[in-house]
Amino acid sequence: MCGIIAYLGPKDAPSVVLDGLKKLEYRGYDSWGIGCLSKGKILLVKKVGKVGQAKTSDLGLGAAGMAVGHTRWATHGGISEKNAHPHLDCSGKLALVHNGIVENYQELRKRLQAQNHKFVSESDTEVIVHLVENYLNLGLRKAVERAASELKGRSAFVVLDSSGEIAAARTGSPLIVGCGEGEFFIASDIPAFLSHTRKVMYLDDGQMVMIGKAGPQFFDLASGKEAKKRVVEIDWNVEAAEKGDYEHFLIKEIMEQKDTLWQAISQDEAKIAKVAGQIKDAYGTFLVGCGTAGKVCMAGEYFFAKIARKHVNFAVASEFPSYESFLQPRTLMIAVSQSGETADVLEAIAAARKKKARVISLLNVFGSTMMRVSDEVFMVNAGVEKAVVSTKATTAQLSVLLLLAYASAGRLAEGKRLLLDTASAVNDMLNPRYEEHIKRLAERLHQSEHIYIIGRGLNYPIALEAAIKIQETSYIHAEGFAGGELKHGPIALISRGTPCIVMAANDDSFHEIISNAMEVKARGGHIIGISPQNNEVFDYWIKVPDAGNASPIVNIIPVQILAYHLAVIKGLDPDMPRNLAKSVTVK
Ligand code: F6R
Repeated sequence: MCGIIAYLGPKDAPSVVLDGLKKLEYRGYDSWGIGCLSKGKILLVKKVGKVGQAKTSDLGLGAAGMAVGHTRWATHGGISEKNAHPHLDCSGKLALVHNGIVENYQELRKRLQAQNHKFVSESDTEVIVHLVENYLNLGLRKAVERAASELKGRSAFVVLDSSGEIAAARTGSPLIVGCGEGEFFIASDIPAFLSHTRKVMYLDDGQMVMIGKAGPQFFDLASGKEAKKRVVEIDWNVEAAEKGDYEHFLIKEIMEQKDTLWQAISQDEAKIAKVAGQIKDAYGTFLVGCGTAGKVCMAGEYFFAKIARKHVNFAVASEFPSYESFLQPRTLMIAVSQSGETADVLEAIAAARKKKARVISLLNVFGSTMMRVSDEVFMVNAGVEKAVVSTKATTAQLSVLLLLAYASAGRLAEGKRLLLDTASAVNDMLNPRYEEHIKRLAERLHQSEHIYIIGRGLNYPIALEAAIKIQETSYIHAEGFAGGELKHGPIALISRGTPCIVMAANDDSFHEIISNAMEVKARGGHIIGISPQNNEVFDYWIKVPDAGNASPIVNIIPVQILAYHLAVIKGLDPDMPRNLAKSVTVK
């Protein structure tokens, strides 16, 4: 979703901000803009499309020591230059960028229009800059404080004032301040300024920051009191956030699963055992997540059922309001989120906290909002994931949930051994020959209109996740089903040549899923088997290691590679699929 980067310092601010926007491209966006303070005046450039190869010399902004930039993922108002950020106030002295949604923007806009403020866009963001303008006679800090207090919904905004200061407020969406040598940054996420500094200060919800030449000063929005902050040194390296020798982040991150599974397994065993105990004692445990993380949660439900004989409830986070009445202080919520910023998950957590339930999160981004609102956090240690399509974070999340399930069964050492063996098998599996074999399949499938995926038991959620992967990268209609469900309706979709991927793990569901594959084949379906062993029903076999209860981890990887190659063959961008965003900060 939208990305923010602002800079104040001795370097050429538009160049620094343009470079920062390029680093934020992975978040997914459809237009962008930069505003800077040049010779006392605010100048803007806004464009529809991607930042791509844009150079500072193309911007026509001139030299400036202060600038703010934004990548916009449209919510209110179409994709146009007019709706792109920054937005100006009536006087043109303030330029503002914003992440999130102003839920009460219609009433604010009417009120401000009645006070003669002129609106030039359809964006909800524009109300914020006019609100700040409205209170500017109180000074920038108070004006931002007052404006923020009137906004409903989750937001983060940064305003550049032509008097030479930058102010930013956080009311739900993340903002991080970067502190270099005599230079300062504010960004929605760290990669935007990582090549300049690793020293950061996190804004908490309900806080604002003022940055002038002397550096940042933080305040509590509600009380106006100054807030003390600690400088945190981030240990990410710049190379980890770059493509290296790979053509795309997606394939790099898929291949990195050779290492990330080991990293995911290295958890504090005492903490795993403690949380397993809490799951056993809880009066109801909910696993909540969205999209791919939601499918991981669903797989978690199966892990706990099969390994620990324990019923935990999976819920799609956006549907959690229907379950809220079950929350009470002894309930446990396990939130799974790569970004730690997903709005629907944050809402579910807020509901749990309100009922004093305990919240445990599985996260990949250090310092994210969920980290601050959870009682306990497991970092899944997959490293920076830049492709919008989640891969290495997914298998890392699956690994941690599997460990927790084994720990809940009192068999942590067995679970760890299984995962170490699986990591080693994945290391062997991910070689160029293997990728080539799947690329050949992509060459056969790229013109398909539909691809179906079936699985049973532990691999039913993975069939659903496989469908998400193919949809996101190739825009082919892909759908996952429980193998046993086909004959209750979806089998009507099968005709001659329809591709059907069959996840046939070597477990107690093997013979039944093979029967389901037979049923599809009998109706002309083309069967692609993902399995440790070949079978006569498979028209194309993709071998995976026999990983026992860790089969969901190994089975999703070939589909990730297939999804990547489908995108490449179709000439699509595998890293930034249309309409999608890496961090979904709106409901
Ligand atoms: C798909 C994908 C999304 C995310 C979902 C939740 O590849 O990445 O479906 O899983 O948007 O995001 P997080 O994990 O950040 O909460």
